[in-house]
Amino acid sequence: MEKILVTRRIPHKFIERLESIGEVEIWDHDLTPMPRKEFIEAAKDKTAMIVTLSESIDDELLKAAPDLKVVANMAVGYDNIDLNAAKYHEVEISNTPHVLTETTAELGFSLMLAISRRIVEAEKYVQEGKWESWGPYLLAGKDIYHSKVGIFGMGEIGKAFARRLKGFNADILYHNRSQQTKAEHELGAFYTSFDTLIKESDFVVCTAPSTPETQNTFNKDVFKKMRNDAFFINIGRGDLVVEEDLIEALEQGEIAGCALDVVRNEPIRADHPLLKMPNVIVTPHIGSASVLTRDQMIQTCLLNVLDVINGDKPRNKVEAH
Ligand code: GLV
Repeated sequence: MEKILVTRRIPHKFIERLESIGEVEIWDHDLTPMPRKEFIEAAKDKTAMIVTLSESIDDELLKAAPDLKVVANMAVGYDNIDLNAAKYHEVEISNTPHVLTETTAELGFSLMLAISRRIVEAEKYVQEGKWESWGPYLLAGKDIYHSKVGIFGMGEIGKAFARRLKGFNADILYHNRSQQTKAEHELGAFYTSFDTLIKESDFVVCTAPSTPETQNTFNKDVFKKMRNDAFFINIGRGDLVVEEDLIEALEQGEIAGCALDVVRNEPIRADHPLLKMPNVIVTPHIGSASVLTRDQMIQTCLLNVLDVINGDKPRNKVEAH
């Protein structure tokens, strides 16, 4: 008998499907993560789990769950999972690639438009009753059209972002672990060193995952090298950025502003210094949050769990290298 844990409320249609496979325990909350103690307790007799980024899957948890066969992570990123520990405990891990690519690129693009044209600031201005007349430079921003956009991380999301830029006649630079020649031809993107990318770009867009190599990439030195009129957009992971250095760069006018869907410590508190700056937009990690995409992410988790229960490898297996 399979025993399945789901660590967030999900639509009933998915629970019904899971109930046809085994016994299902669900942490029936939409926004409150399962407390660690209860998570470990619930894991003890489970054979499969569908989890979110809020749950840390580490040695302690895996040790507590001797019957566990599979953990399906409801995200494309899996920095919440210790892959070496999973390998040691012979637990399969899966993620949700592909289905969220376009939705996440769209959010990134929305952030780029919003920060460059000062949409949030402008809306607040109107809400606060400050709109008295038209002004030649009232809330004047920066064009994306004909600008130079540097994408850090040319994976699926980076490419989807670049595709959207084509309609803006922007010059696309990118930096990635490996050069993507096919994308260069298809998207007209130019591979550059990281240094060139940050020095030349009007918009620096981070879509990269968190890995030991990428963590703290965006630090004091990097912000200093960026153009003073450049915007920084992050839809990758918060720990790629040294937040104190970003705050300092904004305070010193070393960059023009930033738009972040991810921050180092989520959720960010309302009194965080970043939230006091007019040239900063922060959204609550909603990159993949369209109803259709979230349905597809849950469905992907379900299929991966089924694969393992049927004795196969999960179709979206991730593993330690
Ligand atoms: C969200 O950040 C994800 O990795 O899917």
